[in-house]
This record gives sequence, structure tokens and C-alpha cells, in this order.
Amino acid sequence: MDFSEVGMDLSEKLPFLAEYWPFIVTVLVCVLAAIVLFKTALDSPVDESLPPEPDLLDELDDLEGLDEDNEGVVEEDEGPSLPSDLKHVPFEFTRKTPQESLAKTQEFLELMSSRRTVRFFSSDPVPPEIIRNIIKTAGTAPSGAHTEPWTYVVVGDPKMKAKIRDIVEHEERINYERRMGDQWVTDLKPLKTFWEKEYLTVAPSLILVFKQVYGFKENGVKRTHYYNEMSVAIASGILLTAIHYAGLVSLTSTPLNCGPAIRALLGRPKNEKLTLLLPVGYPAADATVPDLTRKPLEDILVEI
Ligand SMILES: Cc1cc2nc3c(=O)[nH]c(=O)nc-3n(C[C@H](O)[C@H](O)[C@H](O)COP(=O)(O)O)c2cc1C
Repeated sequence: MDFSEVGMDLSEKLPFLAEYWPFIVTVLVCVLAAIVLFKTALDSPVDESLPPEPDLLDELDDLEGLDEDNEGVVEEDEGPSLPSDLKHVPFEFTRKTPQESLAKTQEFLELMSSRRTVRFFSSDPVPPEIIRNIIKTAGTAPSGAHTEPWTYVVVGDPKMKAKIRDIVEHEERINYERRMGDQWVTDLKPLKTFWEKEYLTVAPSLILVFKQVYGFKENGVKRTHYYNEMSVAIASGILLTAIHYAGLVSLTSTPLNCGPAIRALLGRPKNEKLTLLLPVGYPAADATVPDLTRKPLEDILVEI
């Protein structure tokens, strides 16, 4: 066969192909390589012996909720969430002297220095009005575009507390044994935390803090909750402060991987994600706390 004839034939019949074939071949090879790489990444098995990053678990929780959330949710319209003619009123303010402010800060510092995470609770009941005032106080928190993206569920019912404890202990056992990794478990040892969570059934009240990933306008249309994570974190700080100010104790916990099951158990909607679970009550008579110290001011403050 005479290839020079074939070449000539090709350049006559398909001049474009003859001129640009190196370029076309390169593009085809790249596309094929991309397809192979993409398929390999999808098919490669996940190593379940490795603990997923906690943040990733959180993201997965979020995504799981959001996938289903979109069912029946009307996407956002253009209308404002707050009335466009919202009234502005004079700000009530009584100015303190610097001396008064200094005294206040000293007093508050002393109060807050006695707050501790308590892991041993008394079963003595707490009057519900106290818990309601604490939640109202948390509800005074600032929030992105005043979206107030939080729901507090207070559980006092012993059967419900037992169900929550079952979910948490089931997941925590897996967390401690498989997901958290040696370093994390080692870091927790001095604090004496373990997968068993007796306090969840002993404490008289459990406060479950849900962040609303999005909300709804009055017309039922989806409302963006800007900075919902940060807003709920700030509100949670106020919540902890209010609990302490009331003379009660709590244990801040973020039950890893329990969100969807607890949300379903409590009948909360899919736009809500569990962020904190706080047993609240009085400390057990023989409660102990780890002897921790705080970083000195010079380690946490930079003044410029
Ligand atoms: C986001 C967050 C999650 C926490 N999760 C747990 C937890 O799951 N179990 C626990 O016993 N303590 C938990 N803690 C409490 C911390 O261990 C505790 O705040 C820290 O050791 C300092 O102790 P203190 O609160 O007594 O000052 C958590 C605290 C925070 C802020």
C-alpha cells in the first residue's frame, strides 16, 4: 500500500482533519484520561477503618438534611424577609461611668470564672419557668439579618430522655471505638469522658439546640438564614451564661453523628440541624470537675 497516496488522498478529501489532526488527537486523549480518572475516583472504595473528619460528618449531616429538605420547599422569592417600612425607634441607653463599667466587668469575670462543665448531675427537678427564662435570654442573641435561626427543644420526659441516651450512646460507642482516632480519645481521657452518658437520663432537663439552616417567610417561601452557624454559636454562649447565672450547671456536648436520629425522634423539621445537647440541672452532691486552668490574658489578647 502506498501511504503517501493515502496522505494525499486525505488532505484532498478532508483538509481540516489533515491540518489539525495532532490537535484533535491531543483533545481526545485528554477527554479519555479525564473520564478514566473520574470513574476511578467514583469507584474507589472508602476506607472505613479511617475515621472521617468530624467536620465532614457535620457536612454530611447538613447535606442529608438539605437533600430531602428541598422537597415541597418553595424557593426564595425576591421579597424582603423583614417589612421594608420597618419602624426605627430611639435607642434606650444609660451610660455608665468607666468606674462603674470596670466594677461590672470585675463582678462578671468572677461570676463567669466559676462556670464549669459538670458531668455528674442530681436528679432534682428545675422549675420550668427558670428554663423558659433561660431560653428567652438565649433568644435575645443577635443573628444574621435578624433571622433568629434557632429552635430550643427542652426534654424533661424520662422516656424521651432514655431514647435520646440510647441514640447518643450507640453513636458515641462507635465514635470512641472507630471514628475518633487514638489522639482524640487520648485527649479526652483526662476529662474522664466516655461513651456512656448517664447524665442524659439523670439530669432533669435536656436542652437541644437546633440551628435552622434556612427558614420560611410569612408566605411560606424559603428564607435564607445568613450566618446561621455563627448566630447559633453566639446564642449558645448566651444560653450557657444564662444557665450559669441562674445557679444551674450544664454540660456542653456536640453529639457526633446523632443529629438526624434525634431530629427525627423529636419530630423536628428537616431545615433544623442539631448543634448542641445540654443536660441542665443541679450538680450531684459528690460532683467533681477536672482541675483546669485558663490561658493567661497575654496568651489570648493582642493589643495593637
Ligand atoms: C463545642 C464543645 C463540645 C463539647 N463536647 C463535650 C462532650 O461531648 N463531652 C464532654 O464531656 N464535654 C464536652 N465539652 C466540654 C469541654 O470539655 C469543656 O468545656 C472543657 O474541658 C473546659 O472545661 P469547663 O467547661 O469546665 O471550663 C464540649 C465543649 C464544647 C465547647
